[in-house]
Amino acid sequence: MLEVYQLHKEINGREILKDIQFTIKDGGSLAIVGESGSGKSTLAQLIMALKQPTSGQVLFNGRCLPNKRIKSYKEWYRDIQIVFQNSASTLNPSMSLFQCLEEPLINFTSLKKQERKERVLEYSSKVGLHEDLLRNRPGRLSGGQYQRACLAKALIIHPKLLICDEIVSNLDMLLQHQIIELLKSIQKEEGLSLLFITHDLSLVPGLCTDILVLKEGEKVEQFRASSLRDEGERDSYTMNLVKSTEMLEAAWKQYVL
Ligand SMILES: Nc1ncnc2c1ncn2[C@@H]1O[C@H](COP(=O)(O)OP(=O)(O)O)[C@@H](O)[C@H]1O
Ligand SMILES: [Mg+2]
Repeated sequence: MLEVYQLHKEINGREILKDIQFTIKDGGSLAIVGESGSGKSTLAQLIMALKQPTSGQVLFNGRCLPNKRIKSYKEWYRDIQIVFQNSASTLNPSMSLFQCLEEPLINFTSLKKQERKERVLEYSSKVGLHEDLLRNRPGRLSGGQYQRACLAKALIIHPKLLICDEIVSNLDMLLQHQIIELLKSIQKEEGLSLLFITHDLSLVPGLCTDILVLKEGEKVEQFRASSLRDEGERDSYTMNLVKSTEMLEAAWKQYVL
């Protein structure tokens, strides 16, 4: 279980995140939704110990976030993996895709060479990448293939929690849909916990059971995804996000039909 308590982050005297609190149970799925600049990526970086909080706590299965004193980074990343929007640096351009996917198995598991090969084949197939692509360098992959490879690289060591930070934002709508469907089936298969970060509310239904709306670093509200459209209950800020998403979707449909 991921537990986030009274998390604050100040950068250059500015409060980027204020009093953020939530939990994700084993197998649970939470979407963090907010406009650009609302602090979503900062939150992801704090949970990945890439930045340290100004105050507050992050725990995973009772264990504290690693820092300069508690150097348990390896254990942390064994359990929690992340896929980014701008993931161009996730796969080493000088290695083959096979080597890129094998690397976390070498770093985090004691699997033997043959077992690693089997795991690489299993996960590339799981994310829909043909075996022939494994010989290529990552630079030769299309945008959609690249994000699939990043997902495979994150999932291949069987983490308990996956953080996705705007993972489909650079893809067209058809590819977005395919990756989201893939994520849904993988989450079900692997019993994975999911923290899905997005500015696009339309991606969330069917993927996450809970939604936390973030505005200028503060939590607006948190609710069950099934009650997203309950006008009487939702904050007016959330309703505006819903309406602008619907307008964008309608405009898109008009454009493609
Ligand atoms: N290293 C940094 N230095 C100064 N400001 C930063 C830094 N990182 C993030 N910010 C600011 O924090 C705010 C939240 O950024 P970010 O977490 O990237 O938001 P989001 O991912 O929701 O778009 C923004 O106003 C951004 O300019
Ligand atoms: Mg961001």
